[in-house]
Amino acid sequence: MADDGTHDGESESAVRSDGGTNGADAGSPAALRADGGAVDEVALDPWGSSTVDDYRKLFEEFGIEAFEEVLPRVPSPHYLMRRGVIFGHRDYRPVADAMANDEPFATLSGFMPTGDPHIGHKLVFDELIWHQRQGADAYGLIADLEAHAARGLSWDEIDEHAESYLLSLIALGFDPDDGTLYRQSTNREVQDLAFELGTKANVSELGAIYDFDGETEVSYMESVVTQMADILYPQLEEPKPTVIPVGPDQDPHMRLARDLAGRMRYFGVTEAYASFELDGGERELVAEAYDALSTAADDPDADIRCVDAAEWLRTERPPAGALESAVETLESGGKEPLRPRVRFLDRNATDEAFEALIEAVEGEKRVYESHIDSFDLSRAEAETLAREVETDHGGYGFLPPSSIYHRFMTGLTGGKMSSSIPASHISLLDDPEEGYEKVKSATTGGRETAEKQRELGGEADECPVYELYAYLLSGDDDEFAARVYEECVGGERLCGGCKEQAAELMAEFLEEHQEKREEAKAVLADLDVELRSDRP
Ligand code: TRP
Ligand code: SF4
Repeated sequence: MADDGTHDGESESAVRSDGGTNGADAGSPAALRADGGAVDEVALDPWGSSTVDDYRKLFEEFGIEAFEEVLPRVPSPHYLMRRGVIFGHRDYRPVADAMANDEPFATLSGFMPTGDPHIGHKLVFDELIWHQRQGADAYGLIADLEAHAARGLSWDEIDEHAESYLLSLIALGFDPDDGTLYRQSTNREVQDLAFELGTKANVSELGAIYDFDGETEVSYMESVVTQMADILYPQLEEPKPTVIPVGPDQDPHMRLARDLAGRMRYFGVTEAYASFELDGGERELVAEAYDALSTAADDPDADIRCVDAAEWLRTERPPAGALESAVETLESGGKEPLRPRVRFLDRNATDEAFEALIEAVEGEKRVYESHIDSFDLSRAEAETLAREVETDHGGYGFLPPSSIYHRFMTGLTGGKMSSSIPASHISLLDDPEEGYEKVKSATTGGRETAEKQRELGGEADECPVYELYAYLLSGDDDEFAARVYEECVGGERLCGGCKEQAAELMAEFLEEHQEKREEAKAVLADLDVELRSDRP
């Protein structure tokens, strides 16, 4: 390694803006820690420009789960998963299980054609391609309606960029014969589904989620329901686990899509203890009371009455949370015995579907005006049955879509990688020479002098160049990524040589990618994706 490397000027340490707390786990040098320790406000705004620099908050506040926890279930995980670049997920288990059991599943993501595709988009392209190779029905879409409505791009600009995204996606390995590529503007099924989903969402709700107000353009709102339709589109034929790989800024969309998927369902399935409804917190308390009282009862057949459970809660549990409302509800239940059951709630079912469900519930059941209680089915059996009856009677039976989240890359100039700052990112269309130069001028996690670097080691965790190795340049080669890391933090690797190596690899990558883009042109031309819109 050349030893001229650490004199890149003060910018190196001065530009760091994230407090420098996302060090790697001691045990796994190449893994990027997802739970950086900074405590800045995290705003999840799909159209904002905020940097998400505190991933831990995403777990705590928004309920995104750590990807690590599902990783062991994933058959031969992608390197972005292994290295913690994909750091979070919602409900990925059904996808991982479908993959492992050779069952149908899907993957879909969308791209707003607002500029040239860059190495940040490549993460998502790679995620789609990997899932496709693992057996997923794969979908890549151009969010042209969104770009027009939310970003005000003209159709000419949109057309130009749309083609470019598709070329890179194909060049990187997406198989368009086996998968689906589409533009929002020409997909009538998506637009129809968007309209239907719009019947389940109202303006105040969108306002609360996205900070929309009275000035927000109607088309902007339409682009939101269009994205909801994109996300559920893979399930139009039949329900299946679907993963949407995105950046964490898209999480509000995921939460809404998961919600809408449920609101479209014919039936809801819940657990109940008596004729009345309980919310989540109340149900937990009632379950506790029921379990305690039935374990304590001498006669296993003796009824446990609502009032007994109310009494138990009042004496055994602190007066906090849902306690008061649970007690009140139980008291109004009086002498009605508590009996665990699963409940099918009629949400949007047709009369025929509701009748069919009554027929289909085996064992002891009780039928009410708009719900059915079953005493013999398990929750899982009930879910399956409800979905079957729904799809047999013309409903979608949507499963809530899953998502995985990747870390944003740090800009090469420090701070955020942004399409509007050319030096901060590498476009997949950059001349290899230009890509080389950008890497050579990148900020690093190096020390002020070579001497110090040898003594203290570099800060690979703070280094955009190391990120390039981990996210892209090492490809599938974990050993190489780990070696760069170890050599850096061990003080054997100095930034000049390290950047030279990265710059060469980047130039090679760009050259090869651009050749493949040329080849992809013929492939794209043969597909029935409209490359020119006839919209004014
Ligand atoms: N809103 C996304 C973006 O800003 C683009 C998008 C549209 C999308 N539809 C989607 C992403 C469906 C994932 C899934 O980039
Ligand atoms: Fe320097 Fe390379 Fe270490 Fe970054 S990874 S600090 S460029 S030696």
